[in-house]
Amino acid sequence: MSLPLAELHVHLEGTVPPALIQKLADRNGLQVPPGVFASPDRFQWVDFIDFLRTYDLAASVIRTPEDYRDITYEYLVGCANEGAIYVELIASPDHAANVGLSDADHYAGIAAGIDDARRDTGIEARILIAAIRNFGVEAAVAIARRHAEDRHPYVVGFNLAGDEAGYPPGQFREAYEIAAGSGLGCTVHAGEHAGAESVREALTLPVTRLSHGVRAVEDPALVQEIVERGIVLEACPTSNIATHVFDSYEDHPLRKLHEAGVNLTLGSDDPPYFGCSIGGEYAVARERFGFEEGELQLITRTAVRASFADDAAKATLLNRITASDDRSGQ
Ligand code: ADE
Ligand code: ZN
Repeated sequence: MSLPLAELHVHLEGTVPPALIQKLADRNGLQVPPGVFASPDRFQWVDFIDFLRTYDLAASVIRTPEDYRDITYEYLVGCANEGAIYVELIASPDHAANVGLSDADHYAGIAAGIDDARRDTGIEARILIAAIRNFGVEAAVAIARRHAEDRHPYVVGFNLAGDEAGYPPGQFREAYEIAAGSGLGCTVHAGEHAGAESVREALTLPVTRLSHGVRAVEDPALVQEIVERGIVLEACPTSNIATHVFDSYEDHPLRKLHEAGVNLTLGSDDPPYFGCSIGGEYAVARERFGFEEGELQLITRTAVRASFADDAAKATLLNRITASDDRSGQ
C-alpha cells in the first residue's frame, strides 16, 4: 500500500461538487439559487467573502438526513480511493438548523455516511462542529452549550469558521470554554484571512490546533511559541492560493514553517471550490514543497496524534501506518 493519508480539515458542505448540489436540489424539488454556479461544473465566487456567500447558498439545498448521509459517503469513499485512512469532517449545525434539520437528524445522516464508508473502504472518520463567526457570538455559545449537554458519539471537536477578519477569535472565548470544558477537542480558523495578531489572540483560547494558522509566519516569535507549545497546524495550501492568502505555492510558508519545527498536517478545506483533494495536497507537498516520503508519513502520523478521536481509534490508525510502512520496506 502507498502512503496512508489523514485529513483534519475539510468542511462537509464544502465537499459537495456542483453535480451533487444539482442532484440534491432536484431530489428535494428545489432550484439551485442564482449565483451558485458559474457553469454546470464550476461554483461562482470571486473572493473569500463571496466564496462564503456561495457556500451558504449551495448548502441551502442540502436538506435531509439522507442528503447528509450521501455527501458524507461520497466524500469519504473518494478520500479512501486516494489512500486516506482518517478524516475529520467539519459540520455546521447552523447550516443544518437553517434548513429545519434537528441536531439528531443531522448527525444521524452524517454518521450513516461514516459507517457505510467504513464498511465499504475501511476509512475512519469523526465530526467536528463549527460555529460560523458571522452568525454571531450568541449563536456560537448556543451551539457549544447544546453539544456540551448532549452530542452524538462521533462529535469530537469544536471549531470556528466564517469571516475571521470581521469577527476576531477572542470574541468567542465563552463558547470555547464551554466546548473545551465538556471534553470537546478545540481548534479555530486563524491566520488565514487575518494576520499574526489573530493567531496570537486564537492562542489565548483553549485550543491544541489551528485551522490554517499559516500567517503566524509574519511573526517569528509567534512561530516559536507555536513550536514550543506543540500546537498543530491544519495547513491547506491550495485553499490559501485559491482565496488569495498567498499568490503562489512559491510564496506559501509551508516549508518555512516545517523547517522552523512546526507540527503540520494537510487539508483540502473545500475541495470542489478550490480544485483540490486530500491526495492532491499530499502531491503538492511532495512536488511543490519538496517534502520527502518520510516527511509525508510524519504529516499523517501528526494528524492522527493531533486528531480528536479517542485513544483506541488513534492506536488502530497508527498501527495501520506502521503496517503500511513495514510492507513498503519489504
Ligand atoms: N468555511 C468554509 N471554508 C472556510 C474557510 N476556508 N475559512 C473559513 N470558513 C470557511
Ligand atoms: Zn476551513
